[in-house]
Amino acid sequence: MITYDKNNKIFNLTNNKMSYIFCILKNGKLGNLYYGDAIGENLKIDQMIHFEKTSLTVNYFKNDDKFSMQNIKQEFPEYGRGDYREPAIMLTRENGSHLTDLFYKNHTIYKGKKGLEGLPSTRGEESCETLVIELYDQIIDLTVKLYYTIYKNINAITRHVELINGEKESVKINRLLSASIDFFDSDYQWLQFSGDWSRERHLIEKKLSEGITSIGSIKGTSSAEHNPFIILKRETTDEFKGEAYGFSFIYSGNFLAQGEVDSRKTLRMMMGINPFQFNWKLEKKESFVSPEVVLTYSNNGLNNLSHQLHDLYNKDLVQKKWMTQKRPVLINNWEATYFNFDENRILNIAKEAQQVGIDLFVLDDGWFGARNDDTKGLGDWIVNKEKLPNGIQGLSKKINDLGMKFGLWFEPEMVNEASNLFKEHPDYIISDPQRNSSVGRNQLVLDFSRKEVVDEIYRMMAHTLKNSTVEYIKWDMNRFISEPFGKDLGLEHKGEFFHRYILGLYSLLEKINENFPQIMIESCASGGNRFDPGLLYYAPQAWTSDNTDAISRLFIQYGTSYGYPISSIGSHVSEVPNHQVGRLTPLKTRTDVALFGTFGYELDIGKLSNEEKSQLKEDIKLFKENQEVIQKGRFYRLISPFETNNETAWICVSNNKEEALVGFYRIRNAASNPLKKIILTGLNPQYNYSVNGNEYSGIMLMKFGILLTDFYGENKVTGDYYSKLFVIKKI
Ligand code: DGJ
Repeated sequence: MITYDKNNKIFNLTNNKMSYIFCILKNGKLGNLYYGDAIGENLKIDQMIHFEKTSLTVNYFKNDDKFSMQNIKQEFPEYGRGDYREPAIMLTRENGSHLTDLFYKNHTIYKGKKGLEGLPSTRGEESCETLVIELYDQIIDLTVKLYYTIYKNINAITRHVELINGEKESVKINRLLSASIDFFDSDYQWLQFSGDWSRERHLIEKKLSEGITSIGSIKGTSSAEHNPFIILKRETTDEFKGEAYGFSFIYSGNFLAQGEVDSRKTLRMMMGINPFQFNWKLEKKESFVSPEVVLTYSNNGLNNLSHQLHDLYNKDLVQKKWMTQKRPVLINNWEATYFNFDENRILNIAKEAQQVGIDLFVLDDGWFGARNDDTKGLGDWIVNKEKLPNGIQGLSKKINDLGMKFGLWFEPEMVNEASNLFKEHPDYIISDPQRNSSVGRNQLVLDFSRKEVVDEIYRMMAHTLKNSTVEYIKWDMNRFISEPFGKDLGLEHKGEFFHRYILGLYSLLEKINENFPQIMIESCASGGNRFDPGLLYYAPQAWTSDNTDAISRLFIQYGTSYGYPISSIGSHVSEVPNHQVGRLTPLKTRTDVALFGTFGYELDIGKLSNEEKSQLKEDIKLFKENQEVIQKGRFYRLISPFETNNETAWICVSNNKEEALVGFYRIRNAASNPLKKIILTGLNPQYNYSVNGNEYSGIMLMKFGILLTDFYGENKVTGDYYSKLFVIKKI
């Protein structure tokens, strides 16, 4: 899959569907040649780079006015040698110079892929091959290793960078992007997934033009404002055809995704840790590893691009055991009780849940310390015996006796001022001691860049986990970082704070996973404020949004599906009027939306009518019958709510194409609606299928489609917030 053509000095990474090609230039630096559809071998640098003399450019060699770093597409651009686009790397040396000269030294190629110490990354056994390019700056005595892993059956390449300092001097890393690619042209649409609390990952599309287009975060988390995932596509590319590139960052902290179009209309795409507020001191002989970027490619539209990421994350990022096991249907008490519960109330909800076939009860916020509202108790991970006299141990056992698993909420990174933890360790918080600390949801952020803080939180969590039968953790995080200041870090290391915080977070997640392998973690950050591949490595599912309204969820889940598998999308049925937007939607619609995710409930089943309870039983049965298709099948977006603002449709198809589940949703009804049908995809045109009991041929479903007859004729009065499911089975 990876070859090096010694004569032409060309590296060729290909899985026969796509090629990623770069070369060693005549100055010893790396030049990017091509990334796209597979183009085979026998390539020549001169046929792919036009070396030309242009005015005003700076020439690298005195005797060659056609060799300018500005005009050449770079593979790992540096600062200050005549390329005026933003670089992937910039350092400060002891003498204050920012210059580097990194020349190719050697390379190795091996089967498989190694992990990144302390950081999440894709796994990969025989299914991939890795290339490590070693660059060296002799003056600094600095080695830079560029890692590339290409997957055989998935159009994905992962990239990261390692810096290894020698013995001469210390350096400060001011900027280190994990991946940078120079594209030949910039005729692309830039797709980002942006929003806010309860409006996460809405698709935004813009055309690239001269200058910089970027998104990022400086909040300490990846954030709901912008997801660390970008797509570039040609204007004519749609869900089913055309060229598209994905850039996904396996990291949960401050990030930058940037596209720079220069005057010659080439495009430099880069992704990595946000250089703003990042400044890492590398002492002599120390090394630094950047987080991993995943590049995906498709020449078959956006659905296909998403499938590359879905496959990679399901097979090689999420822990295997969670992908092979069926995920439990859960009930969470948050919207049912908020902080107002005791053991009886919890057990009553659990008993009702057990009756309808729910597998797991999750006890949310409020079970510990003096946590009767959000002003107190955070950080005191000791059960509140007034609410739960039998402790978590007793409660979890009682839930288990009902035949259900038990899950528990934690917000490990936070503390309320009104807590014992804060009284005992006021210095544990992130703060500048000379200034007041801002609060968010009445809480302060613990300084996870400090090992002793992480260790103390682990000690408290482990105590509860060891003495109970917890099999699921909801790992919450409800505010951004302010007053960022690493009190413990020496003056020269202050710029390391944000990244060290994330490393501390990952170390705690790792330790919990290692020591409590039976526990599945679901990540959450006021809903989807930290829905990123970094956390998926430790937690196979994420609470997608605090917004449980079915109509809002159409947009949120549709947007999320571009970069993340359905098996990671936490989706619950909640009560109406909805708590976030006040909307009244039918139970059927709420269910039909939540089914396309890690299905669950977030309401008091005891308040439902008998008819509704029977419906729940049916719905859970339907989910379980189709769970394999939903969790492990192919998800295709069919009709975009971002285009229609009124209708959405999607389909999950089993890998053998014998089963499928389609969801169609219409927000507002109207009189005399246009005729409507949905054309399906992903099925086998040669098979015959039963669709809700009626027989169709596969070709018919994929060419003509299924008629939606509910909007006209006798049944036209469907009302607003309509949904319809089609259960499809091969005959
Ligand atoms: C924010 C989460 O997103 C909610 O689901 C809930 O767990 C609350 N925090 C609890 O405080």
